Amino acid sequence: MSGGGFRVIEGGRSDEPTPGLLIVGAAEVVTMEGGIRAGGQQGDVGRLTAAEVGGPAAADAPVVACWEGRIAAVGPRSVVERVLEGEGYPLGRFARLDATGGTVTPGLVDPHTHLLFSGSREGEVQLRQRGADYLEILAAGGGILSTVVATRAATTDVLLAHGRRWLDEMLGHGVTTVEAKSGYGLDLETEIRLIEVAHRLGAEGPVEIVPTYLGAHAVPPEYRSRPDGTEAYVRSIIEEQLPGVAAHGRARFCDVFCEEGVFSADQSRRILEAAAAYGLASRLHADELAPSGGAELAAELGAVSADHLATPSAAGIDALARAAAEGRPVVATLLPATTWFLMKDHGAPARTFIERGIPVAIGTDFNPGTSPTASLPLAMTVACVELRMTPDEALAAVTINAARAVGLEEEIGSLDPGKAADVVIWRVPTSIQIPYWPAANLVRTVIKRGRVVLDRS
Ligand code: NIG
Ligand code: FE
Repeated sequence: MSGGGFRVIEGGRSDEPTPGLLIVGAAEVVTMEGGIRAGGQQGDVGRLTAAEVGGPAAADAPVVACWEGRIAAVGPRSVVERVLEGEGYPLGRFARLDATGGTVTPGLVDPHTHLLFSGSREGEVQLRQRGADYLEILAAGGGILSTVVATRAATTDVLLAHGRRWLDEMLGHGVTTVEAKSGYGLDLETEIRLIEVAHRLGAEGPVEIVPTYLGAHAVPPEYRSRPDGTEAYVRSIIEEQLPGVAAHGRARFCDVFCEEGVFSADQSRRILEAAAAYGLASRLHADELAPSGGAELAAELGAVSADHLATPSAAGIDALARAAAEGRPVVATLLPATTWFLMKDHGAPARTFIERGIPVAIGTDFNPGTSPTASLPLAMTVACVELRMTPDEALAAVTINAARAVGLEEEIGSLDPGKAADVVIWRVPTSIQIPYWPAANLVRTVIKRGRVVLDRS
């Protein structure tokens, strides 16, 4: 537990939990305090630096105090110690975790993943290099459908092992909460199995999981030969799958791949309205490949999040801007690794969303077809390089705004006192460097609900 300038000075080991943890010596603490970010505030991250509060060597460098799994106080050390004492915390019962020279941020939240699947689709990269289109590959029975065949055939144990392997990768990149969609079963039995595996992995920890039901990811093979196949499958989702998923009781959201040639805006509306009646909040794959009315529908339904938005219509952007201005914001969850990996000329118009006051989040979209990366910091890099987001805007997009995109902004996503103590210590002196070193391993220590769950000191 020592070396490299990041040491657990005393206690704090995951097998010896102490009620308190004091993260000391950081060059910088980024708090993200104060709620979701949009417009000119998208990049206001709440940065406390050692230089500002007393110089790097001073006893007054910024610290983070956690108590029984929650953030207790954040700020210059002397102030925090005074606050803790004033509020009656026993200072002697705080293990000190040394973050010397590093930056400290909230645990990252990946608000859009297709975590659970079987197999891989590396062959599609070369098909695309030769000009094949994503939806053409799908129509020919490849793409999502080939993953459906592999996933239906996978045992629950295989899916659990796969999930653990990739969650470990995500944790290693500073991610403490992950949204995980079903969508490679496309029948009730397999969809529920995927949701149940997601739930079990989250219960096992340390990464927390928000399960989403995505039965409307594609029309499965057994419906494709029918002339009214898409419509018949939509009916089976509404009449058979949704009641089953609701009775199972683990999914928190319903998602739909709302895209010309997949599920129309009208079909998506019917599915999401039926899901809402069962208490499943809405999120959408919206306007990923062509303007399809997805952004408009997200605003109309008051979806929690509209995702991708690589090709929204002007009316769709207006609808999202209006919703934000009226105080019922839909988070624009952008997936820049996907447009990059699909070799698209254009990513989502992030600057427009920010100018129009629409809160922006970033996810990996981790999946075997369009985005086989589990690294949220890499998605931040692509957001900065290709979507021209600033590093601070990107950090808000993977913390507080991503928390909002999974409905957990009151619980995670910032270092506000009272929230879950999900914290990352990075081995760079400022969070500006997180997207600056693509594909590097920058995480030093991860704390989930007050427990050190990864320590590379
Ligand atoms: O978000 N577009 C739909 N779903 C995924 C891709 C899934 C796949 O290709 O397996 C996405 O890009
Ligand atoms: Fe996706």
